Amino acid sequence: MANQFDHIRDQFPILNQQVNKYPLVYFDSGATAQKPFRVIDCISDFYKNANSNIHRGVHTLSRKATEQFEAARKSIATHFNVTNDQQIIFTAGTTDSINMVAQGLAKSHLKPGDEIILSTYEHHSNILPWQLWAQEHKGKLKIIPLLEDQSLDYTSFENLITSKTKLIAITQVSNTLGLITDLEKIKAIALKHNIPFLIDGAQSAPHMAVDLQQLDPDFFVCSAHKMYGPTGSGLLYLSERWLKELPLSKTGGGTIKTVSFEKTEYAEGALRLEPGTPDISGVIAFAEAIRFMDEIGLDSIYKHEEELVLYAQESLLKLSEVTVYGQSKHKAGVISFNVKNQHPFDVGTLLDKYGIAVRTGHHCTQPLMQCLNIQGTVRISFGVYNTKSEIDFFIEKLQKTIRMLS
Ligand code: ALA
Repeated sequence: MANQFDHIRDQFPILNQQVNKYPLVYFDSGATAQKPFRVIDCISDFYKNANSNIHRGVHTLSRKATEQFEAARKSIATHFNVTNDQQIIFTAGTTDSINMVAQGLAKSHLKPGDEIILSTYEHHSNILPWQLWAQEHKGKLKIIPLLEDQSLDYTSFENLITSKTKLIAITQVSNTLGLITDLEKIKAIALKHNIPFLIDGAQSAPHMAVDLQQLDPDFFVCSAHKMYGPTGSGLLYLSERWLKELPLSKTGGGTIKTVSFEKTEYAEGALRLEPGTPDISGVIAFAEAIRFMDEIGLDSIYKHEEELVLYAQESLLKLSEVTVYGQSKHKAGVISFNVKNQHPFDVGTLLDKYGIAVRTGHHCTQPLMQCLNIQGTVRISFGVYNTKSEIDFFIEKLQKTIRMLS
């Protein structure tokens, strides 16, 4: 039966190419998703028709650019079920957003001796800003361990909490394993102990509906480029409390009401945290990418990718030479595996000969690799444009690769 995913690939010009004489199979959307025509056109339309700086001019183009930029904020807020669009701060992406929170909190909220809880499967972007704080301010990081099946040990998690715990920062989906964190459990424990929590949504927002009213975190971050939008753009969602209270880690033009050499009165709302000229076309195209996802429907996207993940996982598990990590049925868009006695780079390099793009290595999760006692994995990650027949082709070529390497 035909469905809406059958022809989605046609909307992505880059996918219509051969790599090493084979049709491109792009299994690296976890690193960055490809962009549909409408997102690419949106960027070029902005520069052709509306390019101007925002929040600054009374002239027509400036008003047009400002309207498009602020309309993007509204529609992105609606996508995440956020009523006050000022709670959406535009940043350069997930890494930038987490650094803003870490540097801001270090100024007032965090004291020497305080503790922050992270999980074993965090991306380096959700480890290093906190590690830097811990090193510079005599803080401590506490890490939620994994169970045998690589899911989080929620029982141990609660035992890590002390009176010094000031933040829980955790990813909603592991970028390496694809495992989905049970945020309702995290939230219940955070609320019980009155501890703020940050959700890293870089790998969840591309694959599932994220309702920030329901999750009600203190901070939520994600990147446009993993959601079919451009690179260099993303967001930081702040709860009402932190929208007012998060200390500034950077400042500059556009953030103020009045400035004198003695004193500055800052703007209220999102502008306080958006210094300098932002990536205007990037934000507008981010909103277009989100409209693209919303028109398909996030529940349909989740279902489509869940089918792909389960199909690929089952197919991989049939190969005796392959180890799959995080073997859960509750996964979003990502599978990591290794071929026995083979380096992931060799497997990835040979798959590329058949036009199959996979990511190999530690995936910016070296602590997870240390926990699994491996150097790296081969990671396949899916987007709306992937199909089961691509998975069949991949499995066939993986088997060939295994035969060549052994
Ligand atoms: N964070 C991106 C990934 O997981 C780059 O591949």
